[in-house]
Amino acid sequence: MQESEGLPRPLATRSAIDPFIVMDVMAAANARKAKGHDVIHMEVGQPGTPAPRAARERASEALRIERLGYTEALGMPELRARIARYTAERYGVPVAPERVVVTSGSSAGFVLAFLALFDAGDAIGLPSPGYPCYRQIANALGLAPRLIETSGQGRWMPTAADVEKLAAEGAAGLLLASPNNPTGTMTLAPRLREIAQACRKHLLWLISDEIYHGLEYEAPAETALAHSDAAIVVNSFSKYFSMTGWRIGWMVVPEALVRPIERLAQNLYISPPAISQVAALGAFDGIEELEAIKAGYARNRAMLLEELPCAGFTTILPADGAFYLYADVSRFAPDSEALAKAMLREIGVAVTPGIDFDPVHGRNYLRFSYAGPEPAMREAARRITAWMR
Ligand SMILES: Cc1ncc(COP(=O)(O)O)c(C=O)c1O
Repeated sequence: MQESEGLPRPLATRSAIDPFIVMDVMAAANARKAKGHDVIHMEVGQPGTPAPRAARERASEALRIERLGYTEALGMPELRARIARYTAERYGVPVAPERVVVTSGSSAGFVLAFLALFDAGDAIGLPSPGYPCYRQIANALGLAPRLIETSGQGRWMPTAADVEKLAAEGAAGLLLASPNNPTGTMTLAPRLREIAQACRKHLLWLISDEIYHGLEYEAPAETALAHSDAAIVVNSFSKYFSMTGWRIGWMVVPEALVRPIERLAQNLYISPPAISQVAALGAFDGIEELEAIKAGYARNRAMLLEELPCAGFTTILPADGAFYLYADVSRFAPDSEALAKAMLREIGVAVTPGIDFDPVHGRNYLRFSYAGPEPAMREAARRITAWMR
């Protein structure tokens, strides 16, 4: 059925963006669960754990005694200062609290950054495979996403040569994520420096999505802030801090960008949710708990890297960080979407087809999220292995 049927005129073409398939698969998995079927979630990138206890306690105290009105559009000053301190302690890079912008999840950060940096029609380089919402948000805002094909040779991450190419095509920016979703691969310091320098030289904005920082298993993640004062860093309490549903994140931006972003934030969202900002302040007191959660991811990762090859999934991209395994399943099915649907239907394991992350080669891949509880991840591995035999 045409979406505009029965409406006075056609919908805006900007609304005709692709769905975020992860969320569609999650809805299908939830529908199965509601009908009484048992479902294990490996489709969605969210921790199986709640927010750290300190975060929940701060929120519950605030509910009792605070008004929880609008905050400043850039976020509560105490939280901005705490994020600046965390950044300095974690990376050894000093950041003035005034450069920190609190957002409604990193998702709002992308909208604010794209609106502040790019005009309609501007091209933006997006490494592929990559997080699908970048290109969908860009399309909705009238930007021109340019997918950069990555490969095993470059550890599935962009290179300085890609920046040169983007510049030659007149692009206005590059967005990269390290660790990346769906691959889990990372760009280490020397390459990140080269990319930052190339962006500087060719006058491209560099947006660094650092939402999976804290979740590295081989080498620590490097912040773009260490290599460029002009980089826009997007981060979130969703992943390492285990706070997806609180919808709270942050950006670190160049000083000159603060006021334009403030104006956008005031008008688009007024302020990020107050209760979540209070909880986020508490989350910094929960690092010990969060490190224990991360140790669980590391065990899930090790278990799946052993078990999935036994199920026949022998080609898995280097899982340096985040909580994903991206496996080539082309030996088993011409279209991983069909395989994902059958897996949910027949053994109750929800996974995401690669087409969400890579419109060109994604049909060859499945993404497994191992952020769920350890017993559930073990049971999923058992079901998948038995099913594939
Ligand atoms: C790479 C990446 N960036 C951003 C997001 C958005 O997260 P949030 O809006 O919860 O901060 C996600 C969510 O899965 C992600 O994988």
